[in-house]
Amino acid sequence: MKALYLTQNTAQNPPTTLAEIKELTDFPADVAPGDVTIKVTHSSLNYKDALAITGKGPIIRNFPMVPGIDLAGEVMASTSPKFAVGDKVLATSYGIGEIHWGGLATQARVKSDWVVKIPAQFTARQTMILGTAGFTAMLCVMALEKYGITPDQGDIAVTGAAGGVGSVAIHILQQKGFKVTAISGRHETEAAWLKAIGANHVIDRGPLSKLGKPLQREQWAAGIDTVGSHILANLLAATKYRGAVAACGLAQGGEMLGTVMPFILRNVALLGVDSVNTPMPIRQLAWDSLAKIMAPAILEKLVAKEIGLTDAVATAHDILAGRVRGRVVVATNG
Ligand SMILES: NC(=O)c1ccc[n+]([C@@H]2O[C@H](COP(=O)([O-])OP(=O)(O)OC[C@H]3O[C@@H](n4cnc5c(N)ncnc54)[C@H](OP(=O)(O)O)[C@@H]3O)[C@@H](O)[C@H]2O)c1
Repeated sequence: MKALYLTQNTAQNPPTTLAEIKELTDFPADVAPGDVTIKVTHSSLNYKDALAITGKGPIIRNFPMVPGIDLAGEVMASTSPKFAVGDKVLATSYGIGEIHWGGLATQARVKSDWVVKIPAQFTARQTMILGTAGFTAMLCVMALEKYGITPDQGDIAVTGAAGGVGSVAIHILQQKGFKVTAISGRHETEAAWLKAIGANHVIDRGPLSKLGKPLQREQWAAGIDTVGSHILANLLAATKYRGAVAACGLAQGGEMLGTVMPFILRNVALLGVDSVNTPMPIRQLAWDSLAKIMAPAILEKLVAKEIGLTDAVATAHDILAGRVRGRVVVATNG
């Protein structure tokens, strides 16, 4: 199989990550355990993949590693009763592309417990337009709904709006009848696109990027935050009484800033969202919900570009520089 193959140069301080395309002949049992072998036709590039491939974040735990936290394709071999040869499947999370060899390859071997049958409405490529980012966006919306947020309570703010999680979240919310304020550093260049995918208002993230007052004008019924740090603190401070913010990301930073005032004076809830260890029934529910909501035309609008394995490194740098709008799909044989 062909794969993007990461090694680490430990002679340098700090160590650097080296990436090359390599032909591999087998799956080492320690880093590619599993009872299902998948012909991977498509993968995607998420923020986490970009950190892993460039070595800018401590994502990879074992080198050498085949990165790629998302993969989709067709079962080639299975000793699991749950999957048969020819089944159309996807796998994300569980350390795939971090601890276990991942999806930036033409084949992958994974545990059947990690594998999801692709909903009938989707092709493998379409699931990878969504990937972990889209799946996480769905989990964020589900978290707000479970908390009791409804469209009549007011607008929902989405940060990192032009990114993968943000853009999918905007469309899901719109389809569910919510009004959405997209908060973006690219409000000038991407406003038309953000409105085309479902935003009602687009605002500049600039004023929110430094810490404001502990309590601010109540603007949004709820929020989905993909960036953390100052912006999360300001979002909490501007959330309406009894509102909630679902937090899933750290594109601005991992610090937890601000005060407890939104919690203790406005009853605002902070809802954590993790995709990696989401239990399988909720995982399946999220994918089934995405299949009902995400129509083919909107999926295509979300595609920033489709690349092959050889373009992964350059595109990873673009993602970290905030130059990519929406989602990057990888055709593994492309
Ligand atoms: N919890 C989980 O399980 C989970 C799952 C998936 C992703 N995530 C996290 O969620 C975040 C977003 O992931 P993604 O795949 O959507 O990434 P992405 O496609 O790269 O989007 C990130 C967006 O954040 C904004 N941004 C970038 N740098 C920023 C900065 N310095 N300050 C403020 N905003 C900034 C940009 O949006 P604008 O240009 O519109 O401002 C950018 O498009 C990442 O931190 C990722 O690790 C977590």
